[in-house]
Amino acid sequence: MRASIFGKGMDRMSDPAFRLMALIFKLRDTFIRKDKVLDEFGIRPGQHIADYGCGPGSCIRKASGLVGQEGKVYAVDIHELAVEAVRKRIEKENLRNVTALMAANGICPLEDNSIDLIYALDMFHMVANPETFLKELHRISKPDGILFIDNGHQRRDAAREKILASGVWEIAQETPRYMKCRPAP
Ligand SMILES: C[S@@+](CC[C@H](N)C(=O)[O-])C[C@H]1O[C@@H](n2cnc3c(N)ncnc32)[C@H](O)[C@@H]1O
Repeated sequence: MRASIFGKGMDRMSDPAFRLMALIFKLRDTFIRKDKVLDEFGIRPGQHIADYGCGPGSCIRKASGLVGQEGKVYAVDIHELAVEAVRKRIEKENLRNVTALMAANGICPLEDNSIDLIYALDMFHMVANPETFLKELHRISKPDGILFIDNGHQRRDAAREKILASGVWEIAQETPRYMKCRPAP
């Protein structure tokens, strides 16, 4: 039951589950500033960043403002309803520096070594193949890039173990909310 609500290890949610989640997030976002955590990531104007597992796009407006006109935000998800919702939000809020991208079969359409900073929030628990996922994030990251990833609905121990087992990221810092990772040398 918990697995079907939180999507543990299932990757793609059903359409009704996604729609329900999007509705809950819409209500949540009127009371809680989910995107406030981005202030802690040191995002700078001009950077190219990826909101990986963006869902309906609760963080994209804030991310767009932080990277500014010269920067770029790629909002990536494996669910077509997420990509659709983000595209609508981009139009509605005129977020010219944001692009919604669909990932499929563990691959997203971003160039190798192209992204300064990736954040993956409230989604790691859903990822069915963490090693493939973390290697894909490593592929798109610049060699001096940063990954901020939170536990999602799993214990920190489990999340940490997956990151270290991937062999491609090392954990540079942990806070109660997230882990800051660097590409492993
Ligand atoms: C609970 S939502 C969180 C959305 C957003 N990050 C937030 O914090 O508001 C999780 C999202 O991650 C996406 N997702 C799950 N597995 C994924 C994967 N392997 N790659 C990219 N996105 C994924 C789901 O489709 C869903 O839209």
